[in-house]
Amino acid sequence: MKKMIYDGDPGIDDAMAIILAIKSGVLDLKAITTVAGNVPLEKATKNALKILNLTKRLDIPVAAGMPSPLVRELLTSGPIHGEDGLGGTKLPLPITEDKCIGALDLTIAKILNRPGEFTVVACGPLTNLAEIYSKLPDFGEKVNDLVIMGGAINVPGNVSPHAEFNIYGDPEAAQIILQSDLPITLVPLDVTMKTILTPDDLEQIYEVRTPVAEFAYNALKYYQNVPKHKKLGGCPLHDPLAVGVAIDESFVKTRELYVNVVTDNIITLGKTLVGEENRGELEVCASKHKVCLEVDVRRFIRFFIDTITAD
Ligand code: RIB
Ligand code: CA
Repeated sequence: MKKMIYDGDPGIDDAMAIILAIKSGVLDLKAITTVAGNVPLEKATKNALKILNLTKRLDIPVAAGMPSPLVRELLTSGPIHGEDGLGGTKLPLPITEDKCIGALDLTIAKILNRPGEFTVVACGPLTNLAEIYSKLPDFGEKVNDLVIMGGAINVPGNVSPHAEFNIYGDPEAAQIILQSDLPITLVPLDVTMKTILTPDDLEQIYEVRTPVAEFAYNALKYYQNVPKHKKLGGCPLHDPLAVGVAIDESFVKTRELYVNVVTDNIITLGKTLVGEENRGELEVCASKHKVCLEVDVRRFIRFFIDTITAD
């Protein structure tokens, strides 16, 4: 099993990604760290606990990270994930004593304890990762790989015409991480906007009457019905695809590209810039990263449904 830490802002698609990791049979989820993004930090942290309670995995520690971006105001997703951040599904919050240390200390401790063994999957604004990187400059040598859901390369953004939500949510943090030589695989909207779960796909989840499948059905039904997703004919599985890439990179095809982030232009703020050569805005980039530009859509959607509905 591949040891993994999930860093995110649950959020409906984060919740599905966490369940996919737990039920994958490939990933050994060792911790969840939360960051403010889709919802404020406290709600994201409670939602992570609700998912672990639902999946009977309260043995996995949850640690809260940064409550706001490095330098800017917090931007949340508003109604896209519902008032509770989980599509109004009203999952119970477990009674847990606060045994967790903070996200940064927990992640650093686990990674230093087993250097080179952890995969970190980051599916929210990259504030926690930027803070960890500032405390642990050799973070890149201590993690096996870092899969990041974020960015928009050859497609429009989803929070502005130029920017994707996780990058836009903390562009300074994203710039620090993407300019680095960390072992990054970037999973941008170019692939996640293709992995659309349709109402027909969702009916296959409805037919399975387990508590996890029922939660997934209700949360994804809400997510499909938000206006911006209705127009797509279904809901994009952004974060589940990032976990899918950590499980089996053959779901995607990647290119090695330098990646930087715009932080000094109000119109294109959060835009991800890429190139084969580190020239111009890319000359500050320490190394290329694997950028996912193609995905085997139906094979991934099949895998997602089969894994979420498995006993
Ligand atoms: O742009 C999609 C990303 O922003 C996903 O991770 C979603 O959960 C939000 O965090
Ligand atoms: Ca997310």
